[in-house]
Amino acid sequence: VQLQPYNTLSLPAIARYFTTVDSLADLQAVLVWAKEKDVDVLPLGGGSNVVLADDYDGLVICLRFMGRELIDGQDGEVLVRAAAGEEWHSFVCWTLEQDCFGLENLSLIPGTVGAAPIQNIGAYGVEIQDVFHSLEAVNVRTGELVTYAGDDCRFGYRDSVFKGEDRDCFIITSVTFALTRTFAPTLGYGELHREVECEAQERGCPVSAALVSDVVCRIREAKLPDPGQIGNAGSFFKNPVVAETHFQRLKGKFENLVAYPAGEGHWKLAAGWLIDQCGFKGVTHATSAGVYQNQALVLVNHGGASGKDILALADEIKAAVWARFAVELEIEPRIYG
Ligand code: FAD
Ligand code: EPU
Repeated sequence: VQLQPYNTLSLPAIARYFTTVDSLADLQAVLVWAKEKDVDVLPLGGGSNVVLADDYDGLVICLRFMGRELIDGQDGEVLVRAAAGEEWHSFVCWTLEQDCFGLENLSLIPGTVGAAPIQNIGAYGVEIQDVFHSLEAVNVRTGELVTYAGDDCRFGYRDSVFKGEDRDCFIITSVTFALTRTFAPTLGYGELHREVECEAQERGCPVSAALVSDVVCRIREAKLPDPGQIGNAGSFFKNPVVAETHFQRLKGKFENLVAYPAGEGHWKLAAGWLIDQCGFKGVTHATSAGVYQNQALVLVNHGGASGKDILALADEIKAAVWARFAVELEIEPRIYG
């Protein structure tokens, strides 16, 4: 099966086997088959955080479990569970319609609920670890259903146990979030704070979760390419974290350096700024692999690029950023092949 329609970078790659599952029983049966045949499995949600650099000599399992559920708790807390195949943004909109707050800053992130814990998705000052309750997952080898609490997931910046020790071992089937009935905006992200204040003033109404969600959508639409129009996987690199001494040295040399405090003695640098400074913004290679014109952290496929073409451009960018800033960039999406 051709995987091009199943990944947002629109990269061509053939899967030896392909199936779609919409229930736990289906998934467990498919895993038994894969074990008997001794084939590797690749769970896929929206394909918005993968780089398919080669054909996949195994079974791609498209996760399409659907369902949402709301469980009221004490003190205004409410548990909201969604099945892995639910589209993330429609789930966020649904929680807001139910007057459940906490996910509004994460509006418009592409992909599925089931993939959200894998890299602890985050945007505009919120990461899912802040509102995470638990998840259920199936052990790929045994078919057994297990539960992970927040601590078990070892969330970090764009990181979790599912990218480390438990990588490829579990398929997440549902995720439960602890949300609140009392809205308290999270506006630590400067740009969001300013735009939300402006919008509330313009509308002549107090700041609501729906308003925050609208503003987040607007900021994102201005900066990030719509995968339906231009192939991309969002930020291609993580924002690198450097030690205080390195930060001071860079700040001395580049006074416009964009950086945020990242815990005692550490700074997170804006990778988009570093790449931008190296002159990559808006470039397009003959292969159609390019760098988005409004956001240098986003690599794009203008049509016809392969995964290897995208990775060749990424290597070029890494080398340039290293040569100029002595900073190592780490690729964010998962590379296959
Ligand atoms: P996929 O790409 O299908 O899968 C990603 C990885 O997770 C793969 O390794 C896959 O095998 C694994 N996986 C998927 N589902 C499961 C499952 N149920 N169980 C086990 N493993 C699974 N990310 C952010 O954090 N913040 C952002 O602001 C953000 N903005 C983006 C903007 C754009 C325009 C794009 C294209 C991407 C952006 N991303 C962002 C990245 C992406 O949206 C997230 O990583 C998202 O969670 C990926 O979901 P998906 O269903 O598409 O995952
Ligand atoms: N910048 C430039 N030039 C550029 C791009 C950025 O100078 O071409 C500078 C600007 O100063 C800007 C700053 O970098 O203010 C930060 O840029 P932006 O606000 O766009 O955020 P980001 O750090 O590039 C991160 C996440 C995004 C997330 C946004 C909002 C990572 C790797 N990326 O991007 O997540 O949506 O913040 O919180 O942490 C993703 O993971 O796929 C993703 C899109």
